[in-house]
Amino acid sequence: MKTIDVCLSPDLIHLFEVKNKIVVVVDILRATSCMATGLAYGVKAIRPFASLDECRAMKSEGYFIAGERNGDKVPGFDLGNSPFDYMDPLLKDKSIAVTTTNGTVAIEKSQEASQIVIGCFLNISAVAEYLKEQENDALILCAGWKGKVNMEDSLFAGALVEKLQNDFANECDAPLLVQAAYQDMSHNLLALVQSSSHAKRLHKLNIYEDIEYCLKMDLYNIVPVLKDGEIVLLQETTTP
Ligand code: MLT
Repeated sequence: MKTIDVCLSPDLIHLFEVKNKIVVVVDILRATSCMATGLAYGVKAIRPFASLDECRAMKSEGYFIAGERNGDKVPGFDLGNSPFDYMDPLLKDKSIAVTTTNGTVAIEKSQEASQIVIGCFLNISAVAEYLKEQENDALILCAGWKGKVNMEDSLFAGALVEKLQNDFANECDAPLLVQAAYQDMSHNLLALVQSSSHAKRLHKLNIYEDIEYCLKMDLYNIVPVLKDGEIVLLQETTTP
């Protein structure tokens, strides 16, 4: 039987065997939710960068540049990191370079994987169906916050483990832990995530709608993957 595991922080990834695995990178608030939204709205490709300067330099290559640090939009960039920014019709068929505090770091740390898939609640069922069809073992990598574990990514991991429980065996205890947490909290997900540390950070920046939107389930039947350094769509898209 294929196996699934959960890495609760990018700072723990060295403890996991990544080669030959599909790594699902998740950053619910808000990096991977933005990436899924952009591709669902017709963005051609999203190139992730851990480095601010490398991302900024992509402007001269004709990319839109997007990013945040500590939740706040990077001054001088075209976009911040709100999923609503990624719905702009101006971005249709365009390419975006993006850098975020945690999400793009998690993608960078997963490069040894056989494939990197972008996951969030907005496309969770599409990701689950895709993983069931593949032969590879899977690892869910939570972006967390500066190396620390966060609530929303862990709950996503629990929800995905639950959807895959008949097709994947748990490789260690983390899948059990996050699944139990999700089962216990799924009835009141939005309210609980609103009390999370990053939601509070975003509230201080007067950001509320993004949180509610990023907790919506299955708005998009899409599977974004990293291909030649860019995040693109693997399967058909259903734009709203
Ligand atoms: C991150 O990478 O930490 C997040 O995407 C931050 C944010 O968007 O607020």
